[in-house]
Amino acid sequence: MQVSILTDTDACALHVARIVAGVLDSSAASIGLATGATFAPVFAALKDLAPTSARTHLYLLDEYLGLARDDPRSFRNTLTRDVCKPLGIPADRLHGPLNNQAPADEAAKTYEATIVRAGIDVQLLGIGTNGHIGFNEPGTSFASVTRVVALSDRTRADNVGCFGRISDVPTHAITQGIATILRAKRLVLVATGSHKATALARAMLGAVDPECPASAIRLHADVHVIADEAATRSLTSESVDDGSSSADQ
Ligand code: F6R
Repeated sequence: MQVSILTDTDACALHVARIVAGVLDSSAASIGLATGATFAPVFAALKDLAPTSARTHLYLLDEYLGLARDDPRSFRNTLTRDVCKPLGIPADRLHGPLNNQAPADEAAKTYEATIVRAGIDVQLLGIGTNGHIGFNEPGTSFASVTRVVALSDRTRADNVGCFGRISDVPTHAITQGIATILRAKRLVLVATGSHKATALARAMLGAVDPECPASAIRLHADVHVIADEAATRSLTSESVDDGSSSADQ
């Protein structure tokens, strides 16, 4: 595992943006993109780097269910606005489950097949404060594939910022599964802020266990973790156990 520790969020964002730009400038065919607060500054930095993205296709890691097609908070619309439009990437090169396409289970199955067929070269991941990757919440089997999931109360509370009221945060999503994520040739996990410190420490040093879904990255041969100093402050072996005494429970 490669680990890069940068001073702060901005330094991390630039570092990750350069990696993404490198993929878009290369002959790589596909990149999987996460969204959320961690990636907003990455996408802003990426815009300034203006990579060519001549042939790269973009794949969503996950998507909320239940939002209107034109809701700016859907992950598809976020990536369209913050990545595709600024970089001139045509809409047909952004792939994801279609929100509100019924039935959602079928949309998830279809999307799993799309990802497997494409083969993701580089998959970006954030990490939830409860250790989730994608929307694979604690307890998710490492054999899981793309499917409909219920969001935990903690994840919904963490995401209330974009929605204003907890009752407006979607209750369900479609997410790539852990097995789907692990199929990517390379994983890049990004964590910024002290609120991610416990989850990151468990992922990197705790038990490799479904109770911390992000710990599954340690089963992958090519992983790059990029974090700021605040997110790495719990990275001492003394501070990490199997999670049973962690504030994440
Ligand atoms: C988003 C995603 C989630 C987020 C995670 C962290 O596409 O898959 O796993 O990466 O919830 O979210 P932020 O970055 O908002 O703290």
